[in-house]
Amino acid sequence: MTAPKTKVGILLSGRGSNMIALVEAAREPACPYEVALVASDKPEAPGLAWATDQGIATWSLSPKGIGKPAYEAALNSALRAAHVETIALAGYMRLVSDSFVGAWRGRIVNIHPSLLPKYKGLDTHARAIDAGDSVAGCSVHVVTEELDGGEVLGQAEVPILGGDTADTLAARVLEAEHRLYPKILAEFVAR
Ligand code: GAR
Repeated sequence: MTAPKTKVGILLSGRGSNMIALVEAAREPACPYEVALVASDKPEAPGLAWATDQGIATWSLSPKGIGKPAYEAALNSALRAAHVETIALAGYMRLVSDSFVGAWRGRIVNIHPSLLPKYKGLDTHARAIDAGDSVAGCSVHVVTEELDGGEVLGQAEVPILGGDTADTLAARVLEAEHRLYPKILAEFVAR
């Protein structure tokens, strides 16, 4: 008998290319996780439409008008109803509250487009170029109450080339993200 797979809920706010990488990796029989739900704070997110087309369960709600506590309570209910065990943030551009982190302590991971602890927060690529760095990259980390501050589970380095703009660098880092995230998530759910 094969071991049961860990049920993962993916949270996104936009394009969803990292979610697609996670879903495609999950199709491999040996992958230790399965995607039980794709959820979003943006009902119009392109990533949600892609997941729906693939027959994956989706959920979305805008926090606008109802406030963050009510939004997160509904999100939490949807995740529990889908029997989610691990949450993977994939371009989820909303800060999770301390109480949400507490409810899922040690079971939320995120991909961030920098070599943490460098460049927490936004505009990571422009900041790396402006600093004169020769190497950029991405990190998968455990989510804690501290922004982009939890245990780093894995990183991939990407060279910064002469003439790079934030956009060209972001595109190169994104390719590395798509390779890194499925590998690290698989290791994380198996540990
Ligand atoms: C990715 O580059 C991801 O690392 C970044 O947003 C992009 C989402 O792209 N996340 C953050 O900046 C989180 N602070 P995607 O929707 O195509 O996966």
